[in-house]
Amino acid sequence: MPEAVARAAEFLRSGALVGFPTETVYGLGADATNERAVAAIFAAKGRPHFNPLIVHIPVEEAEAFAEFDARARRIAAQFWPGPLTLVLPRRAGAGLSLLASAGLDTVALRAPAHPVAQKLMCATGRPIAAPSANRSGRVSPTEAAHVAAELGDAIALILDAGRAPVGLESTVLDLTGEVPALLRPGGITLEQLQASLGAIAIGKVAAGPARSPGMLASHYAPSLPLRLNVTEAHPEEALLAFGPNIPAGFAEVLWLSHSADLAEAAANLFAMLRRLDRPEFSGIAVMPIPNHGLGRAINDRLHRAAAPRP
Ligand code: TXA
Ligand code: MG
Repeated sequence: MPEAVARAAEFLRSGALVGFPTETVYGLGADATNERAVAAIFAAKGRPHFNPLIVHIPVEEAEAFAEFDARARRIAAQFWPGPLTLVLPRRAGAGLSLLASAGLDTVALRAPAHPVAQKLMCATGRPIAAPSANRSGRVSPTEAAHVAAELGDAIALILDAGRAPVGLESTVLDLTGEVPALLRPGGITLEQLQASLGAIAIGKVAAGPARSPGMLASHYAPSLPLRLNVTEAHPEEALLAFGPNIPAGFAEVLWLSHSADLAEAAANLFAMLRRLDRPEFSGIAVMPIPNHGLGRAINDRLHRAAAPRP
């Protein structure tokens, strides 16, 4: 692995794209100071240019790229490194690609906890812009093979570290306004953030849609239609089950978690959606998931995956 990390760092410094593991999902990385490399991310993913990227940095370098107030420092000290992205005022002159923040005067920063991601950042010596390594609108990759299948042609190298342990993307928290705003539920739960920050605005941000461009209604979508909160079988459907008691009569069943454990369900969600996304089924049915803790992030992804396609 050290050799592969060194090669990946070399590719990043030369402007190429690299697939790499984080604790949440696999990222499609580029040197965040290289405008052309960042542009290549948008091209590879088919991602709309109004949707900005997360910039990955080691904890101790974060303040070079954004302005931290006391509140941001406290949150970063508590949850970094880890699955939390902070949207903060962008620091001028820090050399970040303008395309990475899609022209906004803010930047989304994350200090990942995965040891391979940390080694890669260290070896590269540059901030790494990285969205999830999937085609835009599709299911996020939790294994290196998912990255290879969807984006292999566009990537110089994929660092394989097995399954991403959290399985859902980072929580995106906007700290640019007076009241912190949850832009995307994820690996750090709303309850954890509320315990630290008090009131948090959820969903839409006062400043309008351009502030939260990634909150597209349809996202994370498999090819098959999804049916949510299912309690009765449709015989041609495959079932994503949660908890020990399931309705009978489905064509196939995969258990997000047999013991109704939300962390286990989060870790399994995207890989199981991919496994069931096969033409022999008429759709994917999903049992109800409790809407607290990580369940909020799971339900967010399920609702977007089930939303009408544009
Ligand atoms: O767990 C993760 O966050 C993964 C791994 C690879 O770190 N990355 C990821 O990136 O999920 P992506 O591009 O799929 O999602 C980034 C989200 C989008 O919803 C985007 O709109 C939002 O962050 N975002 C990025 N910059 C922003 C900004 N300046 N203001 C508001 N939202 C921003
Ligand atoms: Mg994504």
